[in-house]
Amino acid sequence: MAVNQYIEQNKDKFLNELLDLLRIPSVSADPKFKKDVFAAANFVKESLEKAGADVVEVCETPGYPIVYGEKIIDPSLPAVLVYGHYDVQPADPYELWDSPPFEPVIKNTKIHPEGAIFARGSADDKGQFYMHIKAFEAMMAENDLPCNVKFMIEGEEEVGSDNLEKFVVDHKEKLAADVILISDTHMISMENPSITVGLRGMAYMEVEVVGANRDLHSGTYGGAVANPINVLCQMIASMLDENNHVTIPGFYDKVQELTEDQRKRLNEAPFDLEEYKSKLNIQDVHGEKGYSTIERVGIRPTLDVNGIWGGYIGEGAKTVLPSKANAKISMRLVPDQNWQEIAKIFEEYFISVAPKSVKVKVKAHHGGAPAVVSDSSVGYRAAEAAMEETFGKRPIPTREGGSIPIVALFQKELGTDPILFGFGLDTDALHSPNEHYGVKNYFIGIETIAAFFRKFRELNDQ
Ligand code: BES
Ligand code: MN
Ligand code: MN
Repeated sequence: MAVNQYIEQNKDKFLNELLDLLRIPSVSADPKFKKDVFAAANFVKESLEKAGADVVEVCETPGYPIVYGEKIIDPSLPAVLVYGHYDVQPADPYELWDSPPFEPVIKNTKIHPEGAIFARGSADDKGQFYMHIKAFEAMMAENDLPCNVKFMIEGEEEVGSDNLEKFVVDHKEKLAADVILISDTHMISMENPSITVGLRGMAYMEVEVVGANRDLHSGTYGGAVANPINVLCQMIASMLDENNHVTIPGFYDKVQELTEDQRKRLNEAPFDLEEYKSKLNIQDVHGEKGYSTIERVGIRPTLDVNGIWGGYIGEGAKTVLPSKANAKISMRLVPDQNWQEIAKIFEEYFISVAPKSVKVKVKAHHGGAPAVVSDSSVGYRAAEAAMEETFGKRPIPTREGGSIPIVALFQKELGTDPILFGFGLDTDALHSPNEHYGVKNYFIGIETIAAFFRKFRELNDQ
């Protein structure tokens, strides 16, 4: 196979190019990196041009640009739309990295005996979307591109994709495709390939609790005036009961319950609880009573504090009743929960449980809809066949706990179910120090994507 030969012969080049992309600290959350985020967009543009796209645009938005590229070989052939994101999470805390986050190095690990690339963004999502550009390059170079292809690579995924909806709505025609590929998720393992068919949604909130109009001496006033940190902790604790069930009235109203049979099949996926605990160095798992770990992550909603602050946290001890306390709280959602509705009942509940001794403020940051995609579409069958060819094993469908809000948006606006064609592993440390992506995962991903294009064309020709 000429395409696979091209991939084999260009391994060093493919790897070095990815390392160059990983050297750009394109952190979308922190304005300090603004120039770098634009530089990453430009890198993507040039990569698409070099790979053989004939229309490549860096589309301005009020935030970071969306890079669009396409190669239309024959309008009568099927079109594949590829989505990815070139922005990355902040690398903090830097001191917990074994090597600098934007100076990629390749090291062997137990899970990646053939090496893994350690850098922020290696798995999420630069290493994954770049596989698509390299597969495209290989197919172009060998004159063997079986379908039309369009790329839409954005720079604001890690901060909620605020400007993406408008872009998709305004460019429906341009983005029209027979299938959408997104490589931004995990597989179960190299031995157990899988395709994600469900992602959770999200409602991200920030709260503030204010007591007295200034910090107070904790002796003079302690016991008589509300301590906003104590109150905030009680309010948060009241939102989960002893079974780790969320207590906000109406929270579960729209949650789709799976049938016994669906639950049974979900739990048949390979999963080793002891190994899971030992990899995380925990004695026990923790979650909603009555559900397995796979279910707690895949099909159940959650409420989690992401950060909490207030009061004195400097050296030594200071006796103080702080005037203010804050927290960032996110809820992962499942079909058919609606994030705006959940944000609203959260706010109502939070205000209702606040004692009169404090004032509270609630703000919704961003949100996104949960999504379930088909496991029997033509695209899914092509993806399944492609993975079966490269991994030698038929992938199984799984539901993951993370969120990619664009998935539901694509379903709504373009009427197409994306294929969540991820090649990472859950041990890749996304959003954590020492994020990495297997070298083998990178190359098998490139081959599998090329195989997908072939299979998708074959299935469409039938
Ligand atoms: N690639 C992740 C989502 C993901 C990770 C899906 C692992 C499945 C498995 C994506 O970049 C991400 O981090 N999304 C955010 C949501 C966004 C709205 C900030 C998330 O899940 O926290
Ligand atoms: Mn991602
Ligand atoms: Mn991410």
